[in-house]
Amino acid sequence: MDFNGLSIVITGSGAGIGKFAAREMADRGGLITISDVDPERAQIVAGEINDGGGKAIAVEGDVREYDQVKAIIDRAIDEYGKVDVLVNNAGTGTIKLFMDTVPEEWRFDIDLCLYGVMNGCHAVLPQMVERGSGRIVNICSDAGRVGEPTLAMYSAAKAGVVGFTKAIAKEVARFNVLVNCVCFSTIRTEMMEGLLASVPGMEEKMVKRYPMKRIGEMHDAANAIMMLSSGYVTFITGQVLSVNGGYAMVD
Ligand SMILES: NC(=O)c1ccc[n+]([C@@H]2O[C@H](COP(=O)([O-])OP(=O)(O)OC[C@H]3O[C@@H](n4cnc5c(N)ncnc54)[C@H](O)[C@@H]3O)[C@@H](O)[C@H]2O)c1
Repeated sequence: MDFNGLSIVITGSGAGIGKFAAREMADRGGLITISDVDPERAQIVAGEINDGGGKAIAVEGDVREYDQVKAIIDRAIDEYGKVDVLVNNAGTGTIKLFMDTVPEEWRFDIDLCLYGVMNGCHAVLPQMVERGSGRIVNICSDAGRVGEPTLAMYSAAKAGVVGFTKAIAKEVARFNVLVNCVCFSTIRTEMMEGLLASVPGMEEKMVKRYPMKRIGEMHDAANAIMMLSSGYVTFITGQVLSVNGGYAMVD
């Protein structure tokens, strides 16, 4: 799998899965735009890629704000002439029992996880449609497919991404723009590692629910993102791919 000469924007790629995927795609020839709400993180990741012989630029941007997302896409087009692949990756969830929340808290997860994806798609699609080529990968969660207690708002936002992905896929399929969704279960990021370490026995308890008897690693996540971003995918669109070691096998 190679991404030679392809311009790839990954939101929230200053850490975690987005950062790992960005490095992998840069190693395979991709021209990367690292974007993150935290500009320092973005600079560090882009610097590491460039120091390693790859090509990356860093752009600050909050995916909740349409104008900022538009500016990320415009910057990538200025630098590389186009955007071939957009990975709408930025996201996190509020961990709390829904009954303990107040309505003002609901908007955070919806703005970040659902509006963030809508902003990205709206900003990137015109030039993909015009060129008759493009790949969009929306990062979702099994929480959006099966629901997770203490992640109700996040589950709602991610479920929204599933429906949105299918609708957009139908809208732009005729222009050879393919839009798919990847749902992760637990993936061992730096952030997740800290969470697992904070509760003794949590990982052991968790893996019992996974047929593969392990949680996901970052290469598991990045491989799926790369596959759906790549030229290997030519007739797959509007699909929801779970990357979860067999956890939650439902439609
Ligand atoms: N790690 C998991 O177990 C897991 C499981 C299911 C789904 N996911 C999804 O995978 C994606 C990546 O998750 P991760 O675990 O790598 O996250 P992470 O917290 O490790 O990294 C997320 C990055 O996004 C950035 N970010 C946060 N808010 C932003 C905003 N408003 N605009 C732009 N950037 C922002 C952060 O600064 C950070 O660099 C998310 O959509 C998440 O919901 C992760």
